[in-house]
Amino acid sequence: MTDADASRGGVGVVVVAAGSGSRLRAEVPKAFVPIGGRPLLAYAISTVAALEGVRSLVVVVPPGYDDTSAWPAGSGAALPTFAVVVEGGAERSDSVRAGLARVDPSCDVVLVHDAARAFTPVSVFERVVDAVRRGAAGAVPGLPVIDTIKSVDADGVITGTPERDSLRAVQTPQGFDAAVLRAAYDSGATATDDAALVEATGHHVIVVPGDASAFKVTTPEELRRAERLVADLERAPAS
Ligand code: C5P
Repeated sequence: MTDADASRGGVGVVVVAAGSGSRLRAEVPKAFVPIGGRPLLAYAISTVAALEGVRSLVVVVPPGYDDTSAWPAGSGAALPTFAVVVEGGAERSDSVRAGLARVDPSCDVVLVHDAARAFTPVSVFERVVDAVRRGAAGAVPGLPVIDTIKSVDADGVITGTPERDSLRAVQTPQGFDAAVLRAAYDSGATATDDAALVEATGHHVIVVPGDASAFKVTTPEELRRAERLVADLERAPAS
């Protein structure tokens, strides 16, 4: 560890896993749906545990799931000893707020990650942390958009065709200077993702390259995609 590393705050990570996952039509909340024999949440936790510099991890779970001893087998196998588990709220932003309140205040970078993007490679986390460490107020992974995107009005009439080259489909983890993210959540602004909240408070957020494996498991089709991915990983020879 260099002197510069030693004088830095650590990285805090909030993994939001409190969604019901109703679109999956599963009997348990999405985070606990088994994929290849392990709950979805276990994959997300393993990746965070493999990331260097993490000093604080808060896992936000559905109400009634904060006792890890009652989690389905294997869910918390990789949970670091310093991890904290808290109950989330009705909206994703409520869950992020609940998690953020428990991130160790010494962390100078905070990542917010969807447990549903459980197969996001650690390299994506590293790119996001690096961008914030290099001075960005916020950084999010994103991929170029393949489809042409239209904006429409309430009647479905097309109102615009944004230039495709300027569009990115963004993923998580979304990473921020800790003070900037806390101020954004304290501002009372509302937005559909953390980056938009930070943008609304006047900060620039940059996009770094994302990864196709960071897809969000939302529908039964994506669950099958996740099962295929896990099966492929198990078949792949260890490098
Ligand atoms: O619902 P959506 O797919 O946007 O959820 C994205 C992530 O936010 C998921 O990992 C989900 O568990 C989490 N979430 C949450 N609390 C909510 C809703 C969603 O932690 N109330």
